[in-house]
Amino acid sequence: MEERGLRKVYEGKAKILYDYNGSGDKLIAYFKDDATAFNGQKKGTIINKGEYNNAISVSLFKLLKNNGIESHFIEKLSDREMLVHNLKMFPVEFVVRNYTAGSLAKRMRVEEGVKLLSPVVELYFKNDELGDPMINETYVEAFDLGKIEDVLEAKDTAIKINEILKNFFDKNGLLLVDYKLEFGVLNGKTMLADEITPDTMRLWDKVTLEKVDKDRFRRDLDGVEDAYKRIYNITSKI
Ligand code: ADP
Ligand code: TMP
Ligand code: ASP
Repeated sequence: MEERGLRKVYEGKAKILYDYNGSGDKLIAYFKDDATAFNGQKKGTIINKGEYNNAISVSLFKLLKNNGIESHFIEKLSDREMLVHNLKMFPVEFVVRNYTAGSLAKRMRVEEGVKLLSPVVELYFKNDELGDPMINETYVEAFDLGKIEDVLEAKDTAIKINEILKNFFDKNGLLLVDYKLEFGVLNGKTMLADEITPDTMRLWDKVTLEKVDKDRFRRDLDGVEDAYKRIYNITSKI
């Protein structure tokens, strides 16, 4: 990429961002095969993850757009690259849950896989060093993490997205257990950004309850690549 004269703006755990045309208003998001868990404490590689996650995100951003949800996505550039608007990101992770799993199951000391009576929405401060602590709306105002009305709008959008994604995966034999979204602002407009992939969602087979997401990597289960491939195959029909 640097060979192509592109300036690297940021390298994270799963993606690299490059400035597209020198103006800084558009970015190329390059999806890596690197996999991390537990805020970077566990590291590994998932073969072809970059290609699967780029394609899966592209398809899901298109599905959301068809259902009235705008995102940073502009176009797919290559197997591992998408062009996106450069947003001023909220340093906040929005997690939506339909079933108990992961940190919610631990926090509430309940079994995994219990259907929640209504979706749970959580906000986390995006900061690896602090281990992404859970926050709420009052932190957003008190620590100036974004305009409160923008963050509340993002939270509403995260819940709207739930209906669209839950129905899509349900039709394709999967339970949408939970997922993480990130949002930012472009010209005063709050917009969905980052990625929607098996790295950032928990998906379980409706019949066998088998995990079809990054939990296979987190929990040292086999068939990690096959899980990503299954989600790729499902979303490539969008
Ligand atoms: P992390 O930073 O958590 O290691 P990634 O490796 O996925 O995660 O890096 C991608 C980074 O790009 C994230 O920090 C995310 O907040 C940021 N990002 C995602 N979409 C955009 C966008 N449209 N504009 C600016 N930054 C973005
Ligand atoms: P959790 O149960 O570990 O809090 O995770 C909830 C959901 O959010 C799960 O689908 C994985 C996703 N997630 C991320 O994408 N990034 C993160 O840093 C964390 C902690 C979770
Ligand atoms: N995304 C975080 C990490 O890369 C946590 C996770 O997905 O488990 O460490």
